[in-house]
Amino acid sequence: MKLYLGTNTKMYKTIAQTCSYLRELKDGTLNIDSDEVEIFVIPSFTTLFSANMVLQDGNILLGAQNMGWEEEGQFSGEISPLMLREVGVRYVMIGHSERRHVLGETDEMERKRVNCALRNGLTPLLCIGETDEEKALGLSNEVLRKQLKIALHDVSPEESKQLRIAYEPVWAIGVNGKPASCEYAAEKHAVIRETLCELFGTDYAEKVPLLYGGSVNAENAERLIRAPQIDGLFIGRSAWNAGNFLKLIEVIRDVWSKSRSERIVL
Ligand code: PGA
Repeated sequence: MKLYLGTNTKMYKTIAQTCSYLRELKDGTLNIDSDEVEIFVIPSFTTLFSANMVLQDGNILLGAQNMGWEEEGQFSGEISPLMLREVGVRYVMIGHSERRHVLGETDEMERKRVNCALRNGLTPLLCIGETDEEKALGLSNEVLRKQLKIALHDVSPEESKQLRIAYEPVWAIGVNGKPASCEYAAEKHAVIRETLCELFGTDYAEKVPLLYGGSVNAENAERLIRAPQIDGLFIGRSAWNAGNFLKLIEVIRDVWSKSRSERIVL
């Protein structure tokens, strides 16, 4: 399994800011073997065309923060997968916590988006995670299983090769978030892996990359990436400065390559 590292810049950064950020990131990652590490950046829609120009001949994949679930039609305000592909997008984030909990998206909508992304050759990064309240009620595992089983209901084992899953507990995300402990994140990643085994069979499920996200920073990244079942990190604030993200990538890559044979036993 490769190492997966990416960031979503949310509703921050203008076109000029995104391009200068990406130029620095691209230059700093040219020596990274993309067969070993997959790096992706998901900036806002209006930046995608210019971002794609900047990223040409580099090692960074471009992603979009959302997508409509049809190729075209009467869906004002939505973006089609064809339009995303036209501007060089390869990844599409689906069901980020802010889409679900601030903008009211449902598991059923995420299911349609996952299907639409797959049939159009985009890589869906499906984000799942429980709220603080669900955690307090002891419902975390059920919530994760439900989110996966609905969103991935129509996905075949063969198509699962194209998936990426980000586990992002809602209570861990953003300025008021508290990062999950390495133990907690590993436990939930195991639940996710088990659910994927039920859906796709063990051989396919083991190959689906599982990323942890939610207040990842320079202090906790090294430990998180050594935990069992964590194949990558999905980073917000700590990656929005190119220099900081490059430093994080270097540290994580180093720890990851050393620890592949000696993962933390919890
Ligand atoms: P954060 O964001 O790292 O700033 O908590 C994570 C996310 O929203 O994916």
